[in-house]
Order: sequence, then C-alpha cells, then structure tokens
Amino acid sequence: MILHYDDHGPGPVVVLLHGFPLDHAMWEAQREGVGAIYRLICPDLRGHGLSAAPDGIYLIEDMAADVVELLDHLRITERIVVGGLSMGGYVALAIAARYPERLRGLVLMDTRAGADSPEAAKAREELAQKVLAAGSAEPAVLAMMPRLWSPATRTRRPDLIARFEARMFRTPARAVAGALRGMAARPDRTADLPGMQMPTLVVVGSDDVITPPAEARAMAEAIPNARLIEVPDAGHLAPLENPGQVNAALLQFLDAVH
Ligand code: MLT
Repeated sequence: MILHYDDHGPGPVVVLLHGFPLDHAMWEAQREGVGAIYRLICPDLRGHGLSAAPDGIYLIEDMAADVVELLDHLRITERIVVGGLSMGGYVALAIAARYPERLRGLVLMDTRAGADSPEAAKAREELAQKVLAAGSAEPAVLAMMPRLWSPATRTRRPDLIARFEARMFRTPARAVAGALRGMAARPDRTADLPGMQMPTLVVVGSDDVITPPAEARAMAEAIPNARLIEVPDAGHLAPLENPGQVNAALLQFLDAVH
C-alpha cells in the first residue's frame, strides 16, 4: 500500500513514524526544526491520517513493509535514518531487523523493544472490541488521554492537547482496532538489540508513564552504539511536548551520523 506522506526539506533523508492513533502532524515541530536541513519524510501509517484504512490486523511487519514500499516508490536508494515514536518505534525496530541495509541510523522515541504481556494483549483485544462496537476511536482515545502528557504540558499547553486529541478521534474505528490487534501480536525484539550495529538515539520523556525512562535506559544499554536522551517536561509525546530539546538531540545525532 502506498502511504500518504509529508515530504519536506533538503538534504539526507530522515523518515519519522508517528505513534498510535496519530498521524504525520505529530512531527510538526520537527518539520520546522529538522526539516530546514534534512529531507523529512513523515508517512501516515496504514489506517491513520490520510492513508487507506483496510480491514484486518495491522501487523507491525506489514507497517514496516509499507514504509519500505514508500521509499521504493519515491526512488530513495540512499541509506536513511528512520525514527519512530511508540507504535512508530515498533515499526522502526521492525525495519531495523528486516531491512538493516536501508538504514544509516535509528531513532527510538518513547517506545519499547519488548512484546505485550498476555494481560496487555488481552486488554488491547477488549479495547479493540469496544472501539468496533462504538464505531469510533473514542474508547481508545479516552483510555490513553490521561496517560499521554506530562504535568507541565497539561498546565501550559491545553491548546496542544485539544488539537491532538481531536486528531486522534478522527482515526477510523477499524484502523484503531487493526492497530491495537497488530501491536498485541508484535514480536519481542529485545534479543535483537545487542546485534544492532547502527548508530541509535533513544529519546524518552522524563514523565512518560506509558514507556517509562527505565525501559528506555535498558533498551539504550542493550544496543551497542546507542545514546539516551531523557527529555524534561515531557510525557509520552516528547517531540510535541518539548520540541526544542528533542530537535537539538535529533540534529546533533543526525549531524554525527552524516
Ligand atoms: C503509542 O503511543 O503508539 C501507543 O502508546 C503504543 C502502545 O499502545 O503500545
């Protein structure tokens, strides 16, 4: 499937993959800050944003194949940096595992390498059923909202929260269910980490309660060539909540990799 995408800026290619149930717009601050120097390609993963929303389970491997298909469609043969947040990070890890020859570097933001526990997978299935019964993303968005943002963002940026909450509500129910089921079925990639040779930047919001700093630290320690940045005043959506610090870390990493 050819994904919808935003393609902005000059220079070496950097692909950024959004979290669930968001779209390319979550990279708006990176588009300005990083897209001035690098060619930022931000797809809408299947079912999200303006990409098609097929029925069925959205396996993380299929989402990874969609991204590689987009690169081929755009005739991008250079080795790229791919980064992803949370669900986008699962996809980025799948690309690193299955298509390492396409990559120059990897950025893992507010994400984890491990699989769902059986309890977490069961809770996702229950949520997928609620979403399908409601015919809307609402049950999933309402479940996520209280845990997404840092206290600082809640106090200072109600406008940002309202804007992205509205975008999440627009994701079709079948896409939300497909992604929930796909995430529940994703493999545990922890054992891949020590064998990953590419330069890697791990970013985590210091107030992230969904994929907490301790998990990011363990992931960074397991990857031979990884660096960890903990972003203050940020929860699960660090690149939106503290874009200044995330962009500075990204630019430093990208400059070193290129
Ligand atoms: C995300 O932000 O993409 C989700 O929190 C990922 C997940 O539910 O595992």
